[in-house]
Parts: sequence; C-alpha cells; structure tokens
Amino acid sequence: MYRIRGSLALAIVCFSCAVAEGMTQLDGLTDQNKPKRCSHERVYDMSGAYCVGLRLQHIPSLKSGIEILDFSENRLQELKADTFSSYTSIKFLYLAENQMYNIDKDAFAPLSYLQTLDLSNNVILNLPESIFQLPSLRKLYLKDNPLLHLSFTNLQLHTPIKAPLELLDISNCKIDKLPYWGTLPHLTHYNISYNLLTALEAKHFASMCKLEKVDLTKSLDKIKLCDLKPTINWLQDKNVYFQLDDYSKLNTKEFEKCDDMPQNFVALNITHHVCKTAYLEFQSIKTSRRTWLTVTGGLAGFLVGFMLLLYLMHRHNVAQTKTKAEKLKKATPAHDRDKQATVPILVNDSNDVSRL
Ligand SMILES: *[C@@H]1O[C@H](CO)[C@@H](O)[C@H](O)[C@H]1NC(C)=O
Ligand SMILES: *[C@@H]1O[C@H](CO)[C@@H](O)[C@H](O)[C@H]1NC(C)=O
Repeated sequence: MYRIRGSLALAIVCFSCAVAEGMTQLDGLTDQNKPKRCSHERVYDMSGAYCVGLRLQHIPSLKSGIEILDFSENRLQELKADTFSSYTSIKFLYLAENQMYNIDKDAFAPLSYLQTLDLSNNVILNLPESIFQLPSLRKLYLKDNPLLHLSFTNLQLHTPIKAPLELLDISNCKIDKLPYWGTLPHLTHYNISYNLLTALEAKHFASMCKLEKVDLTKSLDKIKLCDLKPTINWLQDKNVYFQLDDYSKLNTKEFEKCDDMPQNFVALNITHHVCKTAYLEFQSIKTSRRTWLTVTGGLAGFLVGFMLLLYLMHRHNVAQTKTKAEKLKKATPAHDRDKQATVPILVNDSNDVSRL
C-alpha cells in the first residue's frame, strides 16, 4: 500500500517536472522565434553546419570535420588567427552579411581545402593577402564591402598568386583603381560592376587568359570614351563577353574616331602568353597526377588480386594435401612402408603386393 502511494507521488512529481520543462521551452521559443543553435546536416554527401540568421557574435563549438559552414546573417565582427583552427576540412565557407571589419592575417591559413569563400556585405577594412595564397580557392565573393578599397591600397600581393581563382566578385566596393592581381590563368568570371573606376587598362585583362565574362555595369562613367577603346578592343579580340549598362556609346562616331591600337600591344601579348603557359602547365600537372594515380591504383589492384589468387591456391593446396593425407592415414596401416599403396591393393592379400 505504501509502495503504491510512493510511486504515485513520484509519477506526479515527474509529470509536473515534465510540464515545467515544456513551459520553459515554450518561453524560449516565444522569446526569440528561432533556436540559437546551429544545425548539422549532410548535403551533397558533405557534412555541413548551418548557423544562418542566429544573431551570433562568435562561432560556437561545432562538429570537427565539417566541410560546409554557413554563418551568413550574423553579428560576427572579427576573425581571429584560431577561429577556424579546429575546422580544417572546410571547403565552403559563407560569412556574408555579418559586421566583419577585422580579419587576422592567418585566419584562413588552416583552410587548405577551402574552395568557396563568401565575405560579401561586410565592412572589411584589412583583407589579408593570405586569402590569395589558399591552394584550393576557386570562388571569392567580396562584393558590397564599402571599405574594401582602403585595404586594396595597402595590399601587398605576392604574384603569381597560388589560389586557382575561377570567379572573383569585387562589385560595389567603392574601388576607383583596380588592384593588379598578376596572372590569373583560371579566372572565367570577373565582376567589377558598381565601382566608380578612374581607369580600365587592357593590361589588367591580358593576365586573365581564360576570361569569359566581365561585368562592367555602372563602373565606367568616369572614364573618357577614347580611353576605353584599347581595352574594349582587347576584350572583343579575345571573345570576352563584357556587360555594360549602356552599349550605345560604343556605336557612336566619337568612339569610332578614337585611336585604335593600344600603345603596348607587344607587352600585352607577352602577358597573355605567360598566362596561357601557366594554364597549360597546371593542366599537364593535373593530368600527369591523374595518370600516375590511375597507374598506381591499377597496379595496387592487380597486386591485391594476385595475392588473393596466391592465397586461394595455397588454401586449395593445403586442403588437397590434407584430404590426401587423411585418406592415406585411413587407408595405410601405421607400419606400412609403401606410401604408394592404395586401398584396393591393401584389401588384397600379400601375394598381390609381392606381384607389384
Ligand atoms: C555582378 O555584381 C552585381 C552587383 O553585386 C550583380 O547585380 C550582378 O548580377 C553581378 N553580375 C554577374 C554576371 O554575376
Ligand atoms: C599579338 O598576338 C596576336 C595573336 O594572339 C597577333 O595577331 C598579333 O599580331 C600580336 N601582336 C604583336 C604586336 O605581337
């Protein structure tokens, strides 16, 4: 009787505990609408952490081994040297729409697998040079950073840069003079729109020999029409698609009358040639590495197969000798000297044996 009453009391206590906990959880939800926790998901067979729009000021502790980190729309202000030191496998890093102004020069150094970096819509003051040396970085978004032009004036680039950049977006960053990136043999998409440029030199594009598309929307209004002609000619000659907000001025008499040839055509050709050579070198390294991998992979597969075959043959032999031995053991008396003796022979009498 006592025990029943006791367990009933316990059940009531537990029930009220659960209700209370549920209430506090509900309170939490009504307070902020969203949970302040990053979620972990697998996307495209990669491990990702999603922390979008959580108003976080710091990157919380996440699973190590994540390959995607989406930390867009938060309140991150700084990236320190050790911010990513526990997440060295990150390939895709999204930090757009934070309040970032300071990035430590070594912040991205541990990220040797980083392929895509989105730093759009921040207030970056000091862009570290090391970003351009990331060995796997293919896409870099820096758009909508109104202070970025200040860091470009101090940027000391070690050229040629290591990052195999394919896409570079520096649109809407109040840039008046484009930084010279050196040879960018993989760049196909370049967005420099919404910057009030004071010059657009053909030299800048000659070092981008795989360029397919450049967005120049709202960036050329300060430049004299005739000063544009050499670059426009160069882009047309190399079949680069350039996007403008107003193409009509290229069809005017005034544009037609401008001087045609850029003064330094030889130098441009050399720059372009250097870029093409770098591209071909990279491709040949890639294919030779692939061939090497295929060859060694094939060889390893063959060896494993061969060893398996040897092992199976060995097993087979052992089994055969065993059964033979067993048969002999069963058939041959212990004192028999003649190992060749077989069952029928032994079944017969000693006369038969002597006859053999
Ligand atoms: C270039 O950037 C501008 C502004 O950020 C954007 O509107 C435009 O779509 C981009 N162009 C391309 C080709 O992606
Ligand atoms: C530059 O290269 C182009 C072909 O890519 C060639 O037609 C042109 O004559 C060269 N110009 C000079 C000055 O070497």
